Amino acid sequence: MNNNPIGLFDSGVGGTSIWKEIHQLLPYENTIYLADSLNAPYGNKSKEEIISLSIKNTELLLEKGCKIIVVACNTATTNAITVLRGRFRVPFIGIEPAIKPAALQSKSKSIGILATKGTLNSELFSLATKEFTKDIMITEVIGEGLVPLIEKGALLSSEISSLLEKFLKPMLENNIDHLVLGCSHYPYLIPQLVKLLPNNIKIIDSGEAVAKQTKSILLENNLLREASNQPIIQFITNSSDITLKHLLKKYLEKVDIETRKF
Ligand code: DGL
Repeated sequence: MNNNPIGLFDSGVGGTSIWKEIHQLLPYENTIYLADSLNAPYGNKSKEEIISLSIKNTELLLEKGCKIIVVACNTATTNAITVLRGRFRVPFIGIEPAIKPAALQSKSKSIGILATKGTLNSELFSLATKEFTKDIMITEVIGEGLVPLIEKGALLSSEISSLLEKFLKPMLENNIDHLVLGCSHYPYLIPQLVKLLPNNIKIIDSGEAVAKQTKSILLENNLLREASNQPIIQFITNSSDITLKHLLKKYLEKVDIETRKF
């Protein structure tokens, strides 16, 4: 089992931000990443649709022998991970907006969260918010329109910049000192965000924490790969591979990108 791959899925290319963290921390692990770009964005879909897409992605990764599944999507995690854990036997790692560290570190007692509608409306998110942010003001904003632009690869576009300006306005008015990125696509917007935000505002995303959690669950289950030769790294997309290739440009020599229906 130890040589079997770590499986990851996302509604599209965004979860590659999580894959990069995992690959950095666990460079010898074999990995398979599913980019369900054909069905992106998940953020505006119903809970039922998100669950059924998440089941479909998990089944495909399990057919490929994955030893653990990383749900590299906040929307799928917050809406479907409980169902996935109840239905399949492998361990699942999810990604959720890092509100706890932001709330604990906030001096202005005001934090901002940018995420999809599906994440912000989920029960899991509201439970976590209640638990960790009792004395904290939270400005939640839906990043409507960002994911399709990121999927197109328009990372540095003026459309993204004006959307971000609009989304950050209420947060800045509420004097936030932490901005939580609650969608695995959004780390790709950090260069734009840094330009728009004052220096005192810290941007937080969950990628590194997810990688650490993946490592510790693999260790706990005795599932870490023992070999230290070049791993097999596969990406499968059901849409154009142009943005995927762009985001993975540093790794193109060692990864295999396949386009096919799923
Ligand atoms: N990357 C996703 C997330 O982390 C989903 C975005 C979407 O498909 O709407 O929420």
